[in-house]
Amino acid sequence: MAAKLIKGAEISKQIREEIAKEVQELKDKQGITPGLATILVGEDPGSKVYVGQKEKACSKLGIYSERIDIPADTSEADLLDLVKKFNHDPKIHGILVQLPLPKHIDASRVIYAIEPDKDVDCFHPVNVGKLMIGTGRFFPCTPNGIMEILKRSDIPTEGKHVVVVGRSNIVGKPIANMMLQPPPGGNATVTLCHTGTKDLAAFTRMADILIVAVGKPKAITADMVKEGVVVIDVGVNRIGKTAEGKAILTGDVDFGSVQEKAAAITPVPGGVGPMTITMLMKNTVEAARGLAVGSKQ
Ligand code: GUN
Repeated sequence: MAAKLIKGAEISKQIREEIAKEVQELKDKQGITPGLATILVGEDPGSKVYVGQKEKACSKLGIYSERIDIPADTSEADLLDLVKKFNHDPKIHGILVQLPLPKHIDASRVIYAIEPDKDVDCFHPVNVGKLMIGTGRFFPCTPNGIMEILKRSDIPTEGKHVVVVGRSNIVGKPIANMMLQPPPGGNATVTLCHTGTKDLAAFTRMADILIVAVGKPKAITADMVKEGVVVIDVGVNRIGKTAEGKAILTGDVDFGSVQEKAAAITPVPGGVGPMTITMLMKNTVEAARGLAVGSKQ
């Protein structure tokens, strides 16, 4: 039987309507307009598209945004100065430096320089540490989008075996962590697989919920999952272009065959992807609200 399609795009739309209301309320009751600064270094076409989407989302939701595009040969010192300027700018509650950065810039040093209360990506080690011990205010955008997708699709995680494939700092490690936290975290049993895992299929076949973020088309095939699994495909792989020049996208999961066995599955595009920017907007509002209540955890 074909799986239920989890439509992230629809869930994202619903959450954005809620965020727009929250923004209006913050403006009306506290006189605060949430503000996001995005910094793009260089000309990477994919990054340009993402930053453009973030700017557009801000404008639609009533969030103030400042976009800074600087050349690929910008020095690390100049970028750090820019980050520090936004750290002290009262109009800005969230700072996002688009990754990847050019090779001559140490991304860790840049992330460390962002004021943790404005780190809406949740990449700063202070926020990563808080996530780990379960006291964070921010959650990283893609993993938080996955948690929200499951919640709003009435798919419980409590007591389930969640298998995560991929150990990136942006998706794999944080989602594994959020899934193992006690309620309101996932409260699941978690297995984290990676390139060093021997016999990957033996683990993925045990998954009640399988989360895949490896950046490789069709890395997961039907023989690697059990009947009734819930599949969350985080992959966005560009595998070619249409006649009109639009990118053809595919996930990390062989959708056609896996959907025959799964109970539910996220499509690519239109699954996890749209949630990431939505959760960034949510974090920006949360950062502005944190300022409003003066809460420094
Ligand atoms: N590059 C790809 N994904 C992301 C993200 O979520 N945040 C930032 N800052 N850069 C990215």
